[in-house]
Amino acid sequence: MELTEIDHVAIAVADLDAAIAYYQETFGCTVAHRELIESDGVEEALLKVADSYVQLLTPTRDTSPVAKYLATKGEGIHHVGYRVANCGEALARVKAAGHRVIDDAPRPGSRGTTVAFVHPKGAFGTLIELVQE
Ligand code: CO
Repeated sequence: MELTEIDHVAIAVADLDAAIAYYQETFGCTVAHRELIESDGVEEALLKVADSYVQLLTPTRDTSPVAKYLATKGEGIHHVGYRVANCGEALARVKAAGHRVIDDAPRPGSRGTTVAFVHPKGAFGTLIELVQE
């Protein structure tokens, strides 16, 4: 089994602070990590839930893929991040099986992780992120 844990469930939101406040006030969550990922045009807040995270994601510019997502689909679940022992190997396996990927090679993710995205078309409509810590 390639997937060792659900690393995070990413939720696209228009107002990051409002979404953080919602999770804090409603469920008592705390922010474990917050980061601006300039290359992706997003800011994220990670709220720890057991060994996984809820990742609140908001665009920082209009050209961000998350901005396009919000414009067409509105707020909601954006992708699921699965933890893997080796991102490169997991990605190679997806490609070898003939499935579409977004990242042709692993790249740096937030909080020092190595990540690669698998295309939702061919993955039953869900954008999948492979996350190596
Ligand atoms: Co993610």
